[in-house]
Parts: sequence; structure tokens; C-alpha cells
Amino acid sequence: MYTNPTSTNMYLSHLLFFCLFLILVRNRVCAKNVNFNHVRPLIDPTPFPNSFKCFTCEKAKDNYNCNRWAEDKWCPQNTHFCKTVHHFTSHGRSLSVMKKCATGDECHTVGCHHHVDSGHTECVSCCDGMICNVEVPTNHTNAVFSVMRSSQKSNAFRSITTRTQTLVSTILVLLLL
Ligand SMILES: *[C@@H]1O[C@H](CO)[C@@H](O)[C@H](O)[C@H]1NC(C)=O
Repeated sequence: MYTNPTSTNMYLSHLLFFCLFLILVRNRVCAKNVNFNHVRPLIDPTPFPNSFKCFTCEKAKDNYNCNRWAEDKWCPQNTHFCKTVHHFTSHGRSLSVMKKCATGDECHTVGCHHHVDSGHTECVSCCDGMICNVEVPTNHTNAVFSVMRSSQKSNAFRSITTRTQTLVSTILVLLLL
């Protein structure tokens, strides 16, 4: 199943906004107990232009366990893609999932390779864009190097982030007045 990363981001933004709103309302009520020295920036700032994140895991036993514990961190500036390596049995049962930030060179090996002796298959896929490696590749159709208009996508993400930041700032100012 394909999950649209932009709608995931939008959903996360809304969820984040709602949580912040609850926290702010609560803090407003107990304002005497708030130590404002400990208030940290509300949104993880982008480290450099066109920066993005990937799901990252070393050797998870399946996709659920990879995404569940995946590190949520910015990719290094020399990488431009998210890479996924999926190892599974002939019955389609996952054996391991690896996800990381990758350079273009690391994405030359996309596709599926069947190991005759073990009966296992290894599929590799790459994609570009914010947290684009949600799914794991399972066949030749999805074990591809999918490059979408990443600049458009990150612009869309940026504008959502900017809108959320504006909203949060407005609410913050209103509550602190
Ligand atoms: C490839 O895998 C996807 C997702 O599991 C599935 O929807 C699709 O039908 C598969 N395609 C082929 C050619 O087997």
C-alpha cells in the first residue's frame, strides 16, 4: 500500500499542533509553575536548504519494527535519497529490513535478487523526498529508484511547516497576553 508522505506530514503537523495547543492551554492554567528558561524551540529547525529525513534502522526483523523504532534524524548533506533493503522468504515473510540515508551511488543496486540456495529474496529500493521510505520493496514493481519532483515536495512540506509555525506562534502570543 502506498502512503502519501505529504498527507502523513500534514496529519503529523495537525497532531503536533493539537498537542502543543493542549500543552499551552495547560501551561497557561498553571503558568505559575512554568520555568520559561526550559522552553525549547517548538519545531525541529531544518539544518540546511533542501534537507530531509529518512526512516533509519540497522537490522529490524520486519517493516513494522523498523518504522516503529526508526530514528527521526536529518540526513547528512552528501546524501540525497532514502534507501531500503528488504530480505524475505519465498512465502513473503520478512527476515530483515534496513533503511538509511543514501548517496546516488548507493542506489545503483535497486531491484530484486533471488538466492537459489536459500530460497530467499532481497529487494532494494531508493526514493527521494521527506521520509519517503515508509514501505518495503517486495517485487520488481516496487524495488525501484523512484525520483519524484523532490523540490516541489519539499517546498510543499516547507509551506505546511511555515503555516504551522505561524499558527503556533499566533496561539502562543495570544495565550501569553
Ligand atoms: C508487487 O507488490 C505490491 C505490494 O505488495 C503488489 O500490490 C503488486 O501487485 C505486486 N506486483 C507484482 C507484479 O507482483
